Amino acid sequence: MSEQRISRRKFMQATACVAGASLATRSFLLEPGPAYASPRAVPAGDTIRMGMIGVGMQGSGLLRTSIGLPGVECIAVCDLYDGRRELAKEIVGKDIPTTRQYKELLDNKDIDCIVAAVPDHWHKRIVVDCCEAGKDVYCEKPMSHTVEDGFEMIAAEQKNKRIVQIGSQRRSDIVYTKAKELYEKGAIGDVCLVEAQMGRNDPCGAWEYTVPPDLSPETLDWETWLGTAPKKPFNALHFTRWRCWQDYGEGIPGDLYVHLLTGIQYIAGITAPPKRAMAMGGLFRWHDGRDVPDSLTTVYEYPQFRSTLRVTLNTETEEVTRFMGTRGLLEIRNGELTLTPQSGADYGPCTPGWPRKMRADYAEEWHKEHELKPGSFSTEEAIRYYAPPGYNDDREHLWNFFESVRTRRPSVEDATFGNNTALCCHMANYSYFNSTIANWDAAKKRIVSSAAS
Ligand SMILES: NC(=O)c1ccc[n+]([C@@H]2O[C@H](COP(=O)([O-])OP(=O)(O)OC[C@H]3O[C@@H](n4cnc5c(N)ncnc54)[C@H](O)[C@@H]3O)[C@@H](O)[C@H]2O)c1
Repeated sequence: MSEQRISRRKFMQATACVAGASLATRSFLLEPGPAYASPRAVPAGDTIRMGMIGVGMQGSGLLRTSIGLPGVECIAVCDLYDGRRELAKEIVGKDIPTTRQYKELLDNKDIDCIVAAVPDHWHKRIVVDCCEAGKDVYCEKPMSHTVEDGFEMIAAEQKNKRIVQIGSQRRSDIVYTKAKELYEKGAIGDVCLVEAQMGRNDPCGAWEYTVPPDLSPETLDWETWLGTAPKKPFNALHFTRWRCWQDYGEGIPGDLYVHLLTGIQYIAGITAPPKRAMAMGGLFRWHDGRDVPDSLTTVYEYPQFRSTLRVTLNTETEEVTRFMGTRGLLEIRNGELTLTPQSGADYGPCTPGWPRKMRADYAEEWHKEHELKPGSFSTEEAIRYYAPPGYNDDREHLWNFFESVRTRRPSVEDATFGNNTALCCHMANYSYFNSTIANWDAAKKRIVSSAAS
C-alpha cells in the first residue's frame, strides 16, 4: 500500500469541505431574553422610578432604552451641562425636573434607583453616594478610575446591601451567554489561549468628538465636572473628549478593552484579576494633546489560559474574540458566534524523513488500525449562532438591572465582577506607563511592578 493512499476518513473530510460552505456550517438564531418578550404587563405598583445622572453620549441612549422598557419611568434628571438637561427632556418627551446637583436625586424618596453615565473619574463618588443614600445604581463601565476606587465601591455596595450593576452590556448579551454555555460544556476542549481585538480608523472613533458650540463656564458647571481631577481653567476639549486624558479616563483599556475583557471573563467564569499583565503600545497618530496611547497590545496571565488583547485607533479592523481550544475554536466576530470543532487527531501516519519501505510498512499498519468502519463517519461542521437583527444588548442589560431592583435578585454584574474587569484595565495601563510587568498582589489589593526581563 502506498503512503500516498488517502484514508477514508481524510477523503470524507476533504469532500465534505469541497462540497461547499453551506454544508459545512449550520446556523441558529438565538432567542433574546425577557426584555424582548412582547411587552409584559408590569403591575402599576411594580413600576420602577429611575433618576438619571449624566445624559451624554451613553446616558442619552440608556435613558431612551430604559423608558422604552415596560414598567420603567424616569422622574428626574441631573447633568452639569445645560444642553444635556434639555436633551433629557426631549428624550422623555415631557418637562421632567432637572438639576445640576445629583444629591437632589438621592434625597428624592420617589426615586427607586439611579442610572449613571458620567465620565469614569466620577464613578466611585456617585456609586458610593447612591449606596449610602439607599439607592440601587447602574453605573457605566469601566467601574473604577483607580484600583482603590473599586474596593471602596464594593464596600459601599455590601455595607448598604444595594443592587449595583456595572454597564458592560456583554454580560447580558445572548451571544456571549451561548458562548459561555459551549465553553462550559467543553465544546472546544482545553482552552490555552484567548485573543481579542478591535480597530478603528476615524477621528470620532479616536474620541475627537465635536465641541458643542454653546459650551462655556455659564452652560457647564466646570468646577464640579473636574471632581477629583487636578484643578484647571475651563477646557472645552477636556469636557468633550475626556477619554484622551488620564485625569478622567483610562484610555484604550478603560474605553474598549473593558468590553472585550467582560466577554472573556463572563464566558470563562473568571472571578479574579489575572496574575500578571504586560502591555506595549504607543501614540502614533492622534497628536492632539492626549496623554494616552492610540495603539495597545496586552498579554494577560490567567491561571487557566493566556489572553492577548489588541486595540488600535489607527486602522479599522473587525472586532473578534477567539477562544482557542484543543478541540477547536469559539469565535465571536462582529456579534456572531461560530463554533468550529477540530478533532486534534492525525489524519495519516506522521513519518516525515523515513525511508520508503519503512514508511510504507508503517502506513499499512496505521491505516488498518485507524480506518473508520462504514457508517461510523460523521462530518465535523461549524455552527453559527446569531442574534436577531437590531438586537440591543444594552436593552437586555438594563432589563436585568430593573428586574434586580424589582425582585432583589442579585445583580448580574455586581461591583466585584466590575472590579475584576476594571483591574485588568488598570494593570494594562500600569504596565504601559511604567514599562514593566504589572503583577496583581491579591493580599495587598494593589498592582506591583517586576522587571520585564
Ligand atoms: N457601555 C458602553 O458601551 C459605553 C459606551 C460609551 C460610554 N460608556 C461609558 O459611559 C460613561 C459616560 O460616557 P459618555 O461618552 O456618555 O460621556 P459624555 O461626556 O458624553 O457624557 C457624560 C455626561 O455626564 C455629565 N456629568 C459629569 N459629571 C457629572 C456629575 N458629577 N453630575 C452630573 N452630571 C455629570 C456631563 O455633564 C456629561 O453630560 C463613561 O463611563 C463611559 O465609559 C459606556
